[in-house]
Amino acid sequence: VQVIETLEELVRAVDKERASGRQFGLVPTMGALHAGHLALLERARAECDAVVLTVFVNPLQFDSGEDLVAYPRDNARDIELGRQAGARYVFLPAEEEMYPGPVLTAVRVAGLAEGLEGASRSGHFEGVATVVAKLFAAVGRCRAYFGEKDYQQLLVVRRMATDLSFPVEVVGCATVRDGDGVALSSRNARLTAAQRAAAPVLHRALQAGLDAIDAGERRSGRVAAVMAEVVRSEPIARLDYAEAVDANDLIASSTLVGDVRLLVAAHFGSTRLIDNLGATAR
Ligand code: PAF
Repeated sequence: VQVIETLEELVRAVDKERASGRQFGLVPTMGALHAGHLALLERARAECDAVVLTVFVNPLQFDSGEDLVAYPRDNARDIELGRQAGARYVFLPAEEEMYPGPVLTAVRVAGLAEGLEGASRSGHFEGVATVVAKLFAAVGRCRAYFGEKDYQQLLVVRRMATDLSFPVEVVGCATVRDGDGVALSSRNARLTAAQRAAAPVLHRALQAGLDAIDAGERRSGRVAAVMAEVVRSEPIARLDYAEAVDANDLIASSTLVGDVRLLVAAHFGSTRLIDNLGATAR
């Protein structure tokens, strides 16, 4: 594995290999790698000739300085895990490399980025879309792998790639869960034992929403209320939102039809967790 710290070096390395016909897989992360990231790397490895893992805690996508400082970082461990997972390059830029001066140009995806996480975390998706656009510009033609755990992010990035004509195929990968249903996230490391014990409530809430749809419920407000009730039954969790929306445009119409996405977010102390599940309303 080769560690690269500058955009120029990344462009040069990837261009050189692509000239000899290699197809690249890109796995953008903020580090603190867990089994969810390893599943992305594994899929990229299986589907592409060479994989670029990027590790950058992107300040633009944090709305609170506190959350940014508390974000777990362990570059040496991430490089080693990247090596074991077969990444050819680990791109590990410093903040000044990605943002050498004030950021005057940002990427905003209207509509898709505005509700749910966008409503709770102002500027978050602008930060995500901007940094991912920079990575897409550097790596060029590739397949880029993102987890469905951040479902809204996946749709925002896919739309951004299409609208800005990046030659990038955005691939969504299934959420990896612990045995008790908790979706893997770097943020789980910040939970106390009691908060971690309470965290499965999110998956239980989604499951209850799914069961309601499977039992014939088509009113999105009713499905959302079922999920909210489950989260509220856990005293340690503080509900942010529970919604049942169209899986393609994230709009909550009053009646659910076709592919639906159920999404929840809640605070466990100072840590905010999100999760989602797909459902079908036929
Ligand atoms: O999902 C993440 O880890 C980040 O939002 C991403 C896509 C790497 C952009 O910083």
